[in-house]
Amino acid sequence: MEFKRYTVTSALPYANGPVHIGHLAGVYIPADIYARYLRSRDKDVVFIGGSDEHGVPITIKARQQGVSPQEIVDKYHTMIKQSFEEFGISFDIYSRTSNKVHHDTAKEFFLNLYKKGEFIEKNSFQYYDETHQQFLADRYITGTCPHCGNDNAYGDQCEKCGTSLNATDLINPRSAISGNTPVLKETKHWFLPLNNYEEFLKEWILVNHKDDWKTNVYGQCKSWIDQGLQPRAVTRDLDWGVKLPEEIKDSNGKVLYVWFDAPIGYISATKELTTEWEKYWKDKETKLVHFIGKDNIVFHCIIFPVMLKAEGSFILPDNVPANEFLNLEGDKISTSRNWAVWLHEYLIEFKNK
Ligand code: MF3
Ligand code: ZN
Repeated sequence: MEFKRYTVTSALPYANGPVHIGHLAGVYIPADIYARYLRSRDKDVVFIGGSDEHGVPITIKARQQGVSPQEIVDKYHTMIKQSFEEFGISFDIYSRTSNKVHHDTAKEFFLNLYKKGEFIEKNSFQYYDETHQQFLADRYITGTCPHCGNDNAYGDQCEKCGTSLNATDLINPRSAISGNTPVLKETKHWFLPLNNYEEFLKEWILVNHKDDWKTNVYGQCKSWIDQGLQPRAVTRDLDWGVKLPEEIKDSNGKVLYVWFDAPIGYISATKELTTEWEKYWKDKETKLVHFIGKDNIVFHCIIFPVMLKAEGSFILPDNVPANEFLNLEGDKISTSRNWAVWLHEYLIEFKNK
């Protein structure tokens, strides 16, 4: 099919550290080549980027450095944005998820789904660190992955096998703040019933995209869909993130799950870029392509499409090219383990030669 226009997105890097050559090789260079190619063919294209400024990766970094999360994201957003510019990634916009347009857009999206009755609202038991009196969402909790046995799986995902997890699935859970064994404490959350979308996902991915999606992407999706999907909490008890809309009862002190708000960042950034943003997101003749790293597959192929589908007025991605990780001297590049060639340092070397 001939498309009228193209929306090309590249994963929003967490603003908890600089970007490295693994990010470039896996996501930004492929996306940039594609955007430049389309422009050279006189296509109508928007190429979207931005910083992902919420979630536990940010608050963990802030805690380590004894500063506020806002200081962390301001520092790294500025640094990342500048390195991309110097390197020549040709974004039409490089935005950030701490800005107002994004908070408003993400809240409205959540409220729409809420009003349509798309969420299951329920109390459940979540891990809690008694010493620090804090709920342990996502990366605040680590443990053994029940699928592959990786000892350092996070509360929301095992990065080794890519499976998305609920914290209570972990074997031997530990608090990442204190190292203690957490206790379970009751709290209310809003869940997106992914299980209601199994038929939609089967038809859309397993049938319609069998031949045009990369085999690694298709294969991961197939294995998750075949395992059966479960409702997934899209809110958290944290004080850093997009606050739940005030009109929702019991929403005080809760924020959206970072993986609920971040992909909406692609939409908010397009809004910031052009008043005609809707044609890039709501017209069936627009081709939407997400460039991502392989640890992002479940979020871009299952969770975000279900959100878009449930909302009802958006198009779905036509392709989700995800790449494998780049190794450095045989070892996985890692921001948290400080094992990388950093883009800002590479640029200093490169410009001096
Ligand atoms: N911040 C995430 C990561 O680095 C990617 C977010 S992509 C988005 O793994 F869709 F959520 F924006
Ligand atoms: Zn695993």
